[in-house]
Amino acid sequence: MDFERELSERISIINNAIDELLPEEAGPQRNMLSACAYSVRNGGKRIRPLLMQCAYRLLGGGDEKGLYPLMAAIEMIHSASLVHDDLPCMDNDRLRRGKPSTWAKYGVDMGTLAGDGLLIYAFETLSGSVLSEAVRLSAFRILAEKSGVHGMIGGQAVDVELTGNIPDPDTLRFIYEKKTGALIEAALMMGAAAAGADQASVSSMEKAGRDIGMAFQIRDDILDVISTSEELGKSVHSDDRNAKITWVSFYGLDQSEKDVRRYTDRALEEIRSFGGDLFFEELLQRLIDRKF
Ligand code: IPE
Ligand code: IPE
Ligand code: MG
Ligand code: MG
Ligand code: MG
Repeated sequence: MDFERELSERISIINNAIDELLPEEAGPQRNMLSACAYSVRNGGKRIRPLLMQCAYRLLGGGDEKGLYPLMAAIEMIHSASLVHDDLPCMDNDRLRRGKPSTWAKYGVDMGTLAGDGLLIYAFETLSGSVLSEAVRLSAFRILAEKSGVHGMIGGQAVDVELTGNIPDPDTLRFIYEKKTGALIEAALMMGAAAAGADQASVSSMEKAGRDIGMAFQIRDDILDVISTSEELGKSVHSDDRNAKITWVSFYGLDQSEKDVRRYTDRALEEIRSFGGDLFFEELLQRLIDRKF
């Protein structure tokens, strides 16, 4: 398998699906709609839709047309989380994916509303899938739980509230599992549910997602310390500037690198228990030392 080629083909399919499913930038509220489109279109790595598709294929999913709205929906929620994360009242970051962050371009008011808009439009998008009603309902529930008050938003709340304080290890872990892990869990669980997997397999994907999420956020913290803003496309030393205690400041760089490996290995084991998938495994391996 030519991984690079396969990856760019998959990403371009995902980008086309997202483009088609974004709301038209028209009407009196078009400025806010442009802010939504700007934040989603400005190409991220598309890790969550990619992982959703990997789980779908791993668990025997067939035709993928019905999956596209789910892939677009999770990327909309992810983008919304970044739009809000960058706001002056949160991490106060002006650079995202090599361009001005949404609030820096459209203002704090439109940035806030675009984030709100995307969170809700994600569910409108998901509802339009041609998947069966039962599958749509379970995808809907997974996405709501994992992005909401007990998921991503819950984690972000504790993350910002603890700014300037030293959290205990359990709280630090809570923040990581929720602010980042929850959406990655959702991606894998939705892919499994869409493939018609049983509850045990969906739970297995949740478990793998938790580990991938931990590895992913710890690597993000490492990059905040060791990378440059040119390479990363976002400001570096953001955590230090915001007085955040991260995995790296808490456990040190060496231990953090080992933990990224350890969490990834555990996720790989879970995936291999379903027979494995070369692309899926390679994707996880490459996330370990990703540069952005
Ligand atoms: C950044 O997520 C925020 C974290 C949860 C670490 P990504 O690294 O997936 O961001 P993009 O979408 O590729 O820009
Ligand atoms: C972000 O964590 C997690 C979410 C947006 C939910 P960070 O604040 O570290 O993400 P970046 O580094 O700004 O992308
Ligand atoms: Mg943050
Ligand atoms: Mg941030
Ligand atoms: Mg970060």
